[in-house]
Amino acid sequence: MKRLVVLTGAGMSAESGISTFRDSGGLWDTYRVEDVATPEGWARDPQLVTEFYNIRRRELLNVRPCRGHELLAQLEQDYEVNIITQNVDNLHERAGSHHVLHLHGELMKVTSSRDPDNPRYIETLPPERPEVKLGDRAKDGSQLRPFIVWFGEAVPNIERATKLSAEADIYVIIGTSLNVYPAAGLIHYVPEGCPIYLIDPKPVQWNSIRSFTHIQKGASEGMKEFIEKLKIL
Ligand code: OAD
Repeated sequence: MKRLVVLTGAGMSAESGISTFRDSGGLWDTYRVEDVATPEGWARDPQLVTEFYNIRRRELLNVRPCRGHELLAQLEQDYEVNIITQNVDNLHERAGSHHVLHLHGELMKVTSSRDPDNPRYIETLPPERPEVKLGDRAKDGSQLRPFIVWFGEAVPNIERATKLSAEADIYVIIGTSLNVYPAAGLIHYVPEGCPIYLIDPKPVQWNSIRSFTHIQKGASEGMKEFIEKLKIL
C-alpha cells in the first residue's frame, strides 16, 4: 500500500464549525496568543487560560467531523494513511482515522503543570465533565493544566512527524497557513519525487522551492477533488 501522509491545520475543522486562528474573525482576533497560549500567560493568569480551554472543550463537544474528515478516514481502505495534525480537536479520530499524530497537544487531555510531557500524568477528560477548575490536581499534586503545546514550548512529536514526512509516497496539506514552526518546516523533509497537494481556499505562504498542486477549495470539496486526482496518479 502507498503511504499517504497528511498535514492538517485549523482549516480542516473550519467546516465543522471550529474557528481558525489567523483568518479574520479567527481566535487570535479575540484573544492574545501570549495570554492564552504561552507558559508566561499561564503563569500570569491561570484562571483565564483554564477558562479559555474550558470554552474550547465545550465547543468541541458540540461539533462533528465534516465530510473532509470522513473522506480522509475512508482513504485507509486503499492507502496507509498517517495524519500529522496541528489541531488539538479529536475530529480526525471521531471520523474514524486510526493514525493521528498531534503536534500541538489534545484538547480533551490535561496534565501536570510541573511535568507536562510525562505520560504518567496525562489524563483524558470525560465528555460529561470537560471542565477544569483552579485547584484540580494532577497525580503529582500540581495544578492540572491543558495538554497543549504552547508557543515557546518544545514539540515532542516533531521527530516522529519528520520521519513520517520523510517516508511519504504522497503528501497532502490541508487548511494550514504554514505560519507556525516547526510544523511548517515538515515540507522540507518530503522526499523528492513525492507529489505534494495543498487544499486551502486561499493562497498560502509557501517557503519552499518544491512545487505543489494547489486545490483551491475548502476541506470537504477539496478532498473530493484530491480523491479524483489520486485515481489517475
Ligand atoms: P491558521 O488559522 O493559521 O490557518 C488556517 C488556514 O485554513 C488558512 O490558510 C485558511 O485559508 C484555511 N482555511 C480556512 N477555511 C478553510 C476550509 N473551509 N477548508 C480548508 N482550509 C481552510 O491555522 P493553523 O495553520 O492550523 O497553535 O495554525 C497553526 C497553529 O497556530 C495552531 O495549531 C495553533 C495556532 O496558534 C497553538 O495554539 C499552539
